[in-house]
Amino acid sequence: MSTTLIRKNLMALTGLFLCLFLVVHLAGNLQLLLPPEQAALQFNTYSKFMTGNPLIKTISYLLYASIVGHVVYAVIITIKNRTASGSGYAYDRRGVSSAWYSRNMGLLGSVILLFLIVHMKDFWYEYKFGSLPQDQEGNKDLYSIVISAFGELWYVALYVVAMVALGYHMLHGIYSAFKTLGTYPRKLSGLLYYGGVGLTLILTAGYIIIPVFVFFKYH
Ligand code: HEM
Repeated sequence: MSTTLIRKNLMALTGLFLCLFLVVHLAGNLQLLLPPEQAALQFNTYSKFMTGNPLIKTISYLLYASIVGHVVYAVIITIKNRTASGSGYAYDRRGVSSAWYSRNMGLLGSVILLFLIVHMKDFWYEYKFGSLPQDQEGNKDLYSIVISAFGELWYVALYVVAMVALGYHMLHGIYSAFKTLGTYPRKLSGLLYYGGVGLTLILTAGYIIIPVFVFFKYH
């Protein structure tokens, strides 16, 4: 197999794994929408379980490796594509045959990466290494940290912009991942495409609803 194909397969596999993480992560985060008392207890217990369980810990390491791998290969592919396609075509019709977001995966990915750095610093780092208050059960009160973070309008806006970028990024990503992995017989193409679009819409809407709901309900 050529190096380019290996790279594309790794992008596809890590991308699909990240989508799977996004489904589980959204399900966990939707607990934030429950009535406050129940949400606080449930979310903090859930966070403790997710960070303490050895199996989930192992999956987390796979997740971090997937994020790093996906980003590193994305940079390599973007540089290779730039070098291969050259610049300044006199007659450039790429905009006619592909969607704008397909041609801007690097840009969308960069917005998501920037979001991820802010996101991990504020929640993941704080939970693991910060000094968080405790709730009634003696668990770290991550719930209060998340709720107060979404009290700032600019912060909610950052999440909404990043989630829209994530939606477009996934739209192209899911489509091309199935193509790269070869599980793309013609008859199934429509089904896979619309399945991918459906999942993308659900995830994007779900992730947008959380900060917007918290902002208007609690601040
Ligand atoms: C409303 C949106 C979101 C909320 C409220 C949220 C909340 C959280 C919280 C509280 C944590 C720390 C606790 C934990 O480690 O599980 C966390 C971790 C994390 N989040 Fe999010 N998140 C959101 C969206 C996203 C999105 C869209 C992504 C990816 C693009 C993402 C990626 C991650 C990653 C990679 C971790 C570390 C997970 C681990 O250590 O296993 N999050 N998130």
